[in-house]
Amino acid sequence: MKFEKPASSNPIDKMSIVGKPVNRIDGALKTSGLAPYAFEQHDVVGNQAYGYIVAAPIAKGTITAYHLETAKAAPGVLAIVTAENAGTIEVGDFNTAKLLGGPKIEHYHQAVAVVVADTFEQARHAAGLVRIDYNQDQGKFDLASEKGAAKVSDEDEGTAVGDFDGAFAQAAVTLDATYTTPDQSHAMMEPHASLAAWEGDKLTVWTSNQMIAWAHGDIAKTLGLDKENVRVVSPYIGGGFGGKLFVRSDAILAAIGARAAGRPVKLALPRPVIFNNGTHRPATIQRIRIGTEKSGKITAIAHESWNGNLEDGSLETAVQQTRLLYAGENRMTMMKLAHLDLPEGNAMRAPGEAPGLMALEIAIDEIAEKAGIDPVEFRILNDTQVDPENPDRPFSQRPFVECMRKGAERFGWNDRPRTPASRREGRHLIGMGVAAAFRNNLLLKSGARVKLDSKGVVTVETDMTDIGTGSYTIIAQTAAEMLGVPLDQVDVRLGDSRFPVSAGSGGQFGANCSTSGVYAACMKLREAVIRKVGFNSDDVVFENGVVRSGSRSIPLGEAAGEGLSEEDAIEWGDLDETYQQSTFGSHFVEVAVDAFTGETRIRRMLAVCSAGRILNPKTARSQVIGAMTMGVGGALTEELAVDTNRGFFVNHDLAGYEVPVHADIPRQEVIFLDDVDPVSSPMKAKGIGELGLCGVAAAVANAIYNATGVRVRDYPVTLDKLI
Ligand code: MOS
Repeated sequence: MKFEKPASSNPIDKMSIVGKPVNRIDGALKTSGLAPYAFEQHDVVGNQAYGYIVAAPIAKGTITAYHLETAKAAPGVLAIVTAENAGTIEVGDFNTAKLLGGPKIEHYHQAVAVVVADTFEQARHAAGLVRIDYNQDQGKFDLASEKGAAKVSDEDEGTAVGDFDGAFAQAAVTLDATYTTPDQSHAMMEPHASLAAWEGDKLTVWTSNQMIAWAHGDIAKTLGLDKENVRVVSPYIGGGFGGKLFVRSDAILAAIGARAAGRPVKLALPRPVIFNNGTHRPATIQRIRIGTEKSGKITAIAHESWNGNLEDGSLETAVQQTRLLYAGENRMTMMKLAHLDLPEGNAMRAPGEAPGLMALEIAIDEIAEKAGIDPVEFRILNDTQVDPENPDRPFSQRPFVECMRKGAERFGWNDRPRTPASRREGRHLIGMGVAAAFRNNLLLKSGARVKLDSKGVVTVETDMTDIGTGSYTIIAQTAAEMLGVPLDQVDVRLGDSRFPVSAGSGGQFGANCSTSGVYAACMKLREAVIRKVGFNSDDVVFENGVVRSGSRSIPLGEAAGEGLSEEDAIEWGDLDETYQQSTFGSHFVEVAVDAFTGETRIRRMLAVCSAGRILNPKTARSQVIGAMTMGVGGALTEELAVDTNRGFFVNHDLAGYEVPVHADIPRQEVIFLDDVDPVSSPMKAKGIGELGLCGVAAAVANAIYNATGVRVRDYPVTLDKLI
């Protein structure tokens, strides 16, 4: 089904199940430990052995010799695989560095061998006995010193509208400030883990991955296999945040280890290896210049960003939101990429906007103060209803002003201390901060198969994943609504490359796109049912487990006969070119900063979100409060510390890389604007999972400024920067 024009109405609009805050249908399985995550796939195949990674202790260089004899002789060892005996190891479409290195080493903790043994302990012990000689090369590891050598990349040439330099030179109020965001790690709860099993030349990998079709293609490509001979299964995923968008070394090491050992092999990356072996969000340096009239109206805005990556690595597109968020006639954006030999930089939750808004939304706070305007009013004053770089292109929907006003009222913004460092409660300085939330709404083709059996049970199959977000539940709600059956008559099967290819879980596109794919398949199934029973399609209703037309009504199971199965995918027309589709919000934060130690505590947070129709307010709220919590980490604690001599992230575990938890934030509130976006899809929904993160860190930093009078432009805002 091609989605080409704004939807008027459709069966979803009934909203008898969609839009309700129903509990997760997989919740009990997860909380009781019965949902098998990749490393817990004990029963799918017998005789499982264990793999353990050997990771390079240098960032750049060449392997000169392997010494494997001692490790091979260790108890329980079944096989050791390195680049010398692994067979084909290509670079996948979605990776930059090889997932098994050698002889060339491209980054610290790149995998160089896998040891397979009968037990996990034996594999780990033997991995410690592997000796490898290296020739070490000098790498480049410091973004600040490589900034001058950075270049505009083919990915993005930058944008320019009007005459920025001229307008900035004449502006009544100006800001020219530079901000930095550090390298960050996804730090998901479940480590990267896989179980691989061969049957002849057919490989099955049970793994933890957000994007089944990408994983399927890249496992095949990396190992030089036909895609038909590879199956990927990923029914449950303990978080990804972008770290599991792409195949990582666990899947490849398990596969080559299993082939060498002649047994299924299970392998999880140890936490201390994940931070350097996996991907991370690259650090940025961002220069922002804003010029306004006396009134506070923006006349000139420029955003430049620098980040580093491996050769052939990608940009962190931190200027993305600045192209769309505020009005202003004269504007420019530019990104430059430096070569660094650090581990691979890649997508982390809201790539682009998350670090981009960390900088932009402090800058807006600063220029508003310079112009003598309240920061909420400043944002409202500079709202735009069209893409400011292409004024012929309206937003499909943009209630940004409403998000700001509603948030300010609900949060009690009027009570904000007017001057920084002016409110004290005991030993604490109290402050409030605000920031805009913005994230684009992306559309990816998404397919599904829907079956109806003779008992009236509906089964949905799609390779969509549930990374903790609630995909199982909203897909069940969608199918139940479309076919008029209760939720418990719907069986949802996800995360298998044998199912139709979906959008997958990423870029906050999963919910809207995957349910739209299920919608398309359900439409086809409805037509099949109508044909079968011979009703006139004009007045047919699917309701309470029956298909009805006028006074005739037939139970769905009966209508299905031997059973029906239909498959379809949602594809997108060019509405995306006619309209700019984005999601909007506001974040409000109150902090207490210890006047003696400089330690910041979050007292309360509020997010107001506009993201089209909310398919399930309970799972959507969970997405947003989780994202807000993550944003507090970005503001206060998260930073991969780079060893600029040896080229690795020093704090490579959850003791050294700190992320906040629920107990760190006593009060979080989420408000969804009651809106639908008919342009976005037949579901009229948009993404919410990343919007909740975008802007949070700046709202915290702005609150800290309001509390203390100290403006910190380098994240994270740790206590040493306040004292
Ligand atoms: Mo998100 S970084 O696209 O998982």
